Amino acid sequence: MTDQRLQDDQGYKPWGGRFSEPTDAFVEAFTASIQFDQRLYRHDIAGSRAHARMLGHVGVLDSAEVDAILNGLDEIEADIERGGVEWSISLEDVHMNIEARLTDKIGIAGKKLHTGRSRNDQVATDIRLYLRDEIDAILVEVERLLRGLLELAEKNADTIMPGFTHLQVAQPVTFGHHLMAWFEMLKRDRARLLDCRKRVNVLPLGAAALAGTTYPIDREFVARELGFDSVAENSLDAVSDRDFAIEFCAAAALAMTHLTRWSEELVLWSSAQFAFIKLPDRFCTGSSIMPQKKNPDVPELVRGKVGRVNGHLISLLTLMKSQPLAYNKDNQEDKEPLFDAIDTLRGSMRAFADMVPHLEARADNMRKAAKQGFSTATDLADYLVRKGIPFRDAHEVVGNAVAWCEEANCDLADMPLVELQNFCDGIGEDVFEVLTLEGSVAARDHIGGTAPAQVRAAVERARASLA
Ligand code: ARG
Repeated sequence: MTDQRLQDDQGYKPWGGRFSEPTDAFVEAFTASIQFDQRLYRHDIAGSRAHARMLGHVGVLDSAEVDAILNGLDEIEADIERGGVEWSISLEDVHMNIEARLTDKIGIAGKKLHTGRSRNDQVATDIRLYLRDEIDAILVEVERLLRGLLELAEKNADTIMPGFTHLQVAQPVTFGHHLMAWFEMLKRDRARLLDCRKRVNVLPLGAAALAGTTYPIDREFVARELGFDSVAENSLDAVSDRDFAIEFCAAAALAMTHLTRWSEELVLWSSAQFAFIKLPDRFCTGSSIMPQKKNPDVPELVRGKVGRVNGHLISLLTLMKSQPLAYNKDNQEDKEPLFDAIDTLRGSMRAFADMVPHLEARADNMRKAAKQGFSTATDLADYLVRKGIPFRDAHEVVGNAVAWCEEANCDLADMPLVELQNFCDGIGEDVFEVLTLEGSVAARDHIGGTAPAQVRAAVERARASLA
């Protein structure tokens, strides 16, 4: 074995001792992961720092060796950040690239870094550290979006729009209430990410290849250094477990699903046919041929991006299916799906956090639409129930009144009182209060209802829960 690793790395393998011929060139490229795992470099270096300090702490390395390793790792990190590192395919992955570079820089001490460690527990540690950081960054966007929704909901607590079932006008609701429904979805996404983070934040290092190590390691020390909540209890599980990545992808798929539901509504609402909202120009693009066009690209793209995240969830589930303990090379395939799920969710959340708070409600159009489709018919039925008519009979009466309006091409609120009384003589002048849109929404005045007062109260409770 030579120390010529970086000058002449072609063919050098840190594990090459028992091999009698060089790796096939295609196999080398086929089995390498450096093309995509290089993004773990900062976390790989952080893990190595903690491992080296621990080895010093328990007396496996002397303090000069630990210092040399730490200095060398600092330099490598700076080199990488400066763009001054050319990754080597023949060194396979980010772990061996960094270790080889370290040895090249500091000599013998570099060769001691891997004492009591394997790439199996190293890579599991790296991914957990990386994912933990990314979850935290995603949560920043999620919280920005949650707060943006609250602002917008508060501003629109009184704005009336049609509520839909089957995409048919059903009953009037407030736009603020609709936005608070989005808020609830996203609040659950946030809780899922926080919960997933707990299972991400467990330290595998110390499991070594699969069985643990003969050195007197101190895993709690490493966990403290790296901010892990606990150490993995079983070495076989520690190197093979990817549940946390699957859980993240599941949470990401569901969060993306929510964003696609909002996207669909944003696309519909910004169309000329609905014209309920205006999206800021900076989130839209035009057409190269049709000068009049303003397309809602951001929601459309997010709606499309759910496909890859759902796919990554299935990839990871399938990757783990039937895998025997402990580490298998299959697990190298965990990274690309996980990374892309992270990037996609993070980007989508960021775009929404930037865009949603700046939606402009076109209240007049919303109101006009809410007046169509007899959206206060249920209010009329409820009115009749209050006058002592059984709900089923009230339903029938109102159905007849709606049929009359359709014939006369008018709204329930425009029916002359005498006509209403033809269907039911219990109806009085006060009926018109419940037939208005304002009366209808204000009457749904309980926790979870659409009344403006309830929307304001919900916003207030939500704000306190975020604080
Ligand atoms: N590049 C590998 C991966 O991503 C690192 C672990 C390799 N371990 C091994 N025994 N070959 O999974």
